[in-house]
Amino acid sequence: MQAKIESLRASILDAMEKTETGRSLYELKLSFQAELKTIMGGMKDLPKEEKPAFGKIVNEFKQSMEAAFEARAAVVKQLEMEKKYAAERIDISMPGRKYKSGALHPITLVKKELIDVFSGMGFKVFEGPEIETDYYNFTALNTPKDHPARDMQDTFYLAENLLLRTQTSAGQIRVMEAENPPIKILSPGRVFRSDDDATHSPMFHQMEGLVVDKGITLCDLQGMLGEFAKRMFNERTKVRLRPSFFPFTEPSVEVDLSCSECGGKGCRLCKGTGWIEVLGAGMVNRHVLENCGVDPDEYTGFAFGMGVERIAMLKYGVNNIKTLFENDVRFLEQFED
Ligand code: PHE
Repeated sequence: MQAKIESLRASILDAMEKTETGRSLYELKLSFQAELKTIMGGMKDLPKEEKPAFGKIVNEFKQSMEAAFEARAAVVKQLEMEKKYAAERIDISMPGRKYKSGALHPITLVKKELIDVFSGMGFKVFEGPEIETDYYNFTALNTPKDHPARDMQDTFYLAENLLLRTQTSAGQIRVMEAENPPIKILSPGRVFRSDDDATHSPMFHQMEGLVVDKGITLCDLQGMLGEFAKRMFNERTKVRLRPSFFPFTEPSVEVDLSCSECGGKGCRLCKGTGWIEVLGAGMVNRHVLENCGVDPDEYTGFAFGMGVERIAMLKYGVNNIKTLFENDVRFLEQFED
């Protein structure tokens, strides 16, 4: 029996040396306890006089093993701590991880800048709906039934009378219906046209302006545009008005700015002309005023509409409108401030 105990002691101590985790030590202890139980179970078969001596041996064995387990438990705990610390070690000499922060999209930047410039001149912002009725987008804007812009090829119709607005001019009507002059509003937003090439996108942004008051003339429009050009581009930027046509303005003009790239000498950006077309404008047609219940003999007004992408392309020298919508990070990164 003594021999059996000694070999068991040796094998358990040997296994104990190899334990490195609390769990394996605990499992070893369970198997030791099971063995001990079997040994103790053998006691009942011994002659009575041998029992005390046997009991003493087993007891001594049990106590010494428990002490060994306890000692190993302290070592294992230390080992586990060391392992944990090694895993959690922070190398303070390592360069830090750089997190990229988001930034505003160039269209948002230009839109904000435009709003800044115009609110500095006293314009209030009004945002109309993107889904419009035929009435607000065309009819009230004096657009005849057979006007090409009303064609299915140019406009996205949702139902017979509902469409994705093709111009922020629809907002002019909503404002004039809701407010009495004097009116001075700026209406930014998305517009939609069935158009798709290097300079046109089916969705783009416009910024509409409308001023209605007594005695407003084309000179006011010209003066305000001159101020806008200087603030948005630079002091040397000049404005040129060319006669044009829009159903909702009379007279109507196309507005060119002197090329910001070459200063008017002529370059690739302005196709050698020195001028770049940036917006449509004009005096609000008297029929439009009448449609909104504004007396055209008492009030006059001007309106203008510009493409935000176009201004962004000019300002940042972007030559394909698609670049603004692809969301390629290498392009967008350039606008981080
Ligand atoms: N709505 C016109 C367009 O989209 C622009 C415009 C607005 C022209 C206001 C005149 C007055 O082309």
